Amino acid sequence: LWTSANIIEDSIETIRQQVGKDEVLLGLSGGVDSSVVAALLHRAIGDQLICVFVNNGLLRENEGDQVMAMFAKHMGIRVIRVDAEDRFLSALAGENDPEAKRKIIGREFVKVFDEEASKLTNVQWLAQGTIYPDVIESAASKTGKAHVIKTHHNVGGLPEHMKLKLIEPLRELFKDEVRKLGVELGLPSDMVYRHPFPGPGLGVRILGEVKKEYADLLRKADNIFIEELRAHDLYDKTSQAFAVFLPVKSVGVMGDGRRYDYVVALRAVETIDFMTARWAHLPYEFLDLVSRRIINEINGISRVVYDISGKPPATIEWE
Ligand code: XMP
Repeated sequence: LWTSANIIEDSIETIRQQVGKDEVLLGLSGGVDSSVVAALLHRAIGDQLICVFVNNGLLRENEGDQVMAMFAKHMGIRVIRVDAEDRFLSALAGENDPEAKRKIIGREFVKVFDEEASKLTNVQWLAQGTIYPDVIESAASKTGKAHVIKTHHNVGGLPEHMKLKLIEPLRELFKDEVRKLGVELGLPSDMVYRHPFPGPGLGVRILGEVKKEYADLLRKADNIFIEELRAHDLYDKTSQAFAVFLPVKSVGVMGDGRRYDYVVALRAVETIDFMTARWAHLPYEFLDLVSRRIINEINGISRVVYDISGKPPATIEWE
């Protein structure tokens, strides 16, 4: 019977036989797939698992600390945290083009990950959070966005010279099965049922050139939006929701003073497959509350707009 408990038991057996006493390396992003792989491998082989978590400076508010609290502190998993914000930001400086930004972020990630991996001389295996749809996707298309997405999700260009053997324990599972496995393994359900977050992170939610100032403002706005969605029981009713930073300035008034600050767009969609999507018809009072909070609490943002574009033609992300 294919219950989560059985799948876990089965996988653990297979993993133990496969890796024996070897050490296994995993790129932990904090997303569902790599998180479930981490929990599963930890249960199977304990301290033989070493995770590398790269903070690229394009993560959401407190995300780095949350990942460390969850996996290192709470679960006792060996996690190497690499704070590489400066590296990513300087690599991105001056770049405006969305696809070029994606490439830079992907390339930089591989470099950072490779450097960390090279320090670990006993590692023989590389674990990846590949799930069944990824397998189909990369078989179907070796080019185009699908492939780009995959290379960011999973460690696309793994350190060639290290000759690591690949272990992909979720390869035969669909997303909903992976989520159930995560819950069964003790991961909190609000992390397992999180909205998808793109590999390039805030890098594609800051239009045009990425700057630390923009990322900091965007994190705050996004955090308010998500916090209120959860508080109003709307988070699980949307498939993906986030804020987008628009590097244009707009005039506002605040008390007696005049403000000339940046604009943030809110995006929330409902979708089954992410190929088509409907903009979420969030209640006006809710949008009003979020907009007020963002403008009042964040010094540097003077205007909030709501994205009412469906996909197609508009993509879910703005870049
Ligand atoms: P779009 O914007 O193409 O997004 O309608 C569809 C889904 O894919 C995600 N997305 C990405 N995920 N790397 C990723 O890992 C990317 O470069 C990327 N671009 C878009 C997006 O968040 C949505 O869930």
